[in-house]
Amino acid sequence: MTQLTVAPAQTSAQTSAPERPAVPAQAPAARAATPGGRTARTRRYLMCPPTHFDVVYSINPWMDPGKPVDGALARLQWEGLLRAFQALGHRVELIEPLPGYPDMVFAANGATVIGGKVLSARFRHAERAAEGPAYLEWFRARGYETREAVHVNEGEGDYLAAGRYLLAGTGFRTDVRSHREAERFFGLPVAGLRLVDPRFYHLDTALAVLDDELIMYYPGAFSRESQGVLRVLYPDAIIATEADAEAFGLNAVSDGRHVLMPPAATHLMDELRERGFEPIGVELSELLKSGGSAKCCTLELRGGPR
Ligand code: ARG
Repeated sequence: MTQLTVAPAQTSAQTSAPERPAVPAQAPAARAATPGGRTARTRRYLMCPPTHFDVVYSINPWMDPGKPVDGALARLQWEGLLRAFQALGHRVELIEPLPGYPDMVFAANGATVIGGKVLSARFRHAERAAEGPAYLEWFRARGYETREAVHVNEGEGDYLAAGRYLLAGTGFRTDVRSHREAERFFGLPVAGLRLVDPRFYHLDTALAVLDDELIMYYPGAFSRESQGVLRVLYPDAIIATEADAEAFGLNAVSDGRHVLMPPAATHLMDELRERGFEPIGVELSELLKSGGSAKCCTLELRGGPR
């Protein structure tokens, strides 16, 4: 596999965030607290360059193969996300994109990684099938403990690690039988959540984990029963409006303090500020043509080989 190199964070990314302390990417336990008390923890992420990104089929309501995609702009926007992570001190690793797999840029779908253990993805649609083995190989080559999934699951698209629980989506992509498989493999209690609105077909389009205790979500994306579960588990959750969700505001990446998200989700940004978070708008409009944004492009590597 070819080794990819990432350009170091550029001054432009740094100047947009002058007040942020420069946290060296190598310091895994580095922490920075906000005046509001929110604490950032340095993360490791896996991303996939949008070299072959395009919309040539439609497997969700956002995808219209008739609408042109600006590949160069997609690349610039994706690099903006990468640089924003680096400027915050997070470490980003890259996987080589496969030609013919235009959705491989959505690294969140590639696997689920918790405590250094990797559950591979098994995609619902043939158009993305080869991505599962490609991501699995990346982890195997680096010595992670891996499990090849038996049931259909789309990685962190539908599995969100939230402290003591693993929140798990189903309804459109991930097979509900996968939830038991994940629960056993990771040894974490799974809270299964049923998605009912085709616009929000992955859990990470309807809900974002902000820290081990707090989430934000759009209730209308979930079945009545699942709305009840969320109310019980997270009575203090930030509730997103339909407009926030439509702007993909819930497709956000939080390090515990900074929340990288689409700038159009203005109401959600205000709510986050009120709760002491620091929302950072990252424009990914070209990727949105495929039904993805910041979180979709990001797979968190929790533990495991460095
Ligand atoms: N076009 C892709 C699909 O429909 C988008 C995936 C978005 N990823 C995510 N984690 N929600 O599969």
